[in-house]
Amino acid sequence: MTDKKIVFSGVQPSGDPQLGNYLGAFKGWVQRQTEKTNYFCVVDLHALTVTPDPEDLRTQTRELAAILFASGIDPYQSTLFVQSHVTAHAESCWLLNCVTPIGWLERMTQFKDKSQGQERVSTGLLDYPVLMAGDIILYDANEVPVGEDQKQHVELARDIAARFNRIYGDLFVIPEPVIPETGGRVMGLNDPTIKMSKSYSHIRGHAIRMLDEPDEIQRSFMRAVTDSGNEIRFSDDVEKSGVNNLLGIYKVITGKSESEVEKDFEDARGYGDLKKAVAEVVIDELSPIKEKYQELMSDVVELDRLLKVGAEQAESVALPKLSQMKEKMGLILS
Ligand code: AMP
Ligand code: TRP
Repeated sequence: MTDKKIVFSGVQPSGDPQLGNYLGAFKGWVQRQTEKTNYFCVVDLHALTVTPDPEDLRTQTRELAAILFASGIDPYQSTLFVQSHVTAHAESCWLLNCVTPIGWLERMTQFKDKSQGQERVSTGLLDYPVLMAGDIILYDANEVPVGEDQKQHVELARDIAARFNRIYGDLFVIPEPVIPETGGRVMGLNDPTIKMSKSYSHIRGHAIRMLDEPDEIQRSFMRAVTDSGNEIRFSDDVEKSGVNNLLGIYKVITGKSESEVEKDFEDARGYGDLKKAVAEVVIDELSPIKEKYQELMSDVVELDRLLKVGAEQAESVALPKLSQMKEKMGLILS
């Protein structure tokens, strides 16, 4: 037995992964993978809640897995797999549905945001956090690294796990959300008051996509919205949120402290220098990832094999837990 903490996180194969995903999620996962037991999941079942085009979903699932491997997720250190390959996820969702009051789901801000103004909303969109709770508790995860936007869902997973334990007796570990201190929120380059998101990556100048060409990255940074001043320092001022965002990106990539970062720009002649420097560190960081990604995508058979190994590892943990759930709930095990 090992006393390493267990980490579970998931990411949806929808849209092009962008710098916010990388700095707020993937980079941290990679950095901490030797200290913990890790499960990283490409959540294709979650992506279905917004009915993507089937061919797009298949392509994006492989692309995202390849980006994660290319970012440094090591299949010998961590378990990286596709959610639908481990059927325990969908099954646990049903079992947990039966202990989850509907009001808990209707209260979720993401549900309210995504369903607002829609004529028809799928049951899947409402049920999304229960599927996510199953993802997490099947692995006895202690820690769930997510961006701020997903904190409420992890808290719901805690409530669901606790409710199950209360009704049927202790079975699940109560997970903790872990929000990265830096990189937790990378903002849009065109509008630094909103979070950089794959959903807006089609808007020119909004996002840096992880697979953008260096000259596109350079151009996007040079166009980034700042303010009319010239002070290069970290700040909570809304007005300075553009500069703050650029400094934040530079800080996470270089691993420097705020004062070290500010020192780097002491002699800068205005925001142009800052933008250039940030573009440079981002390009240096993303170029090798892109190269590795292309290599992985050129051999889909090998990529699928890696994912199969991941799914088998995940299943060896998830299936016994699912059986324990069924047993406690009064199902006859076959
Ligand atoms: P999503 O793209 O919403 O599926 O998010 C996948 C992961 O990346 C989650 O942990 C998010 O919270 C994180 N993430 C997405 N966008 C950003 C951003 N702009 N800044 C920081 N983290 C982000
Ligand atoms: N809902 C998460 C998101 O959109 C992805 C996700 C699914 C997840 N299952 C998870 C994250 C389990 C952490 C743990 O970002």
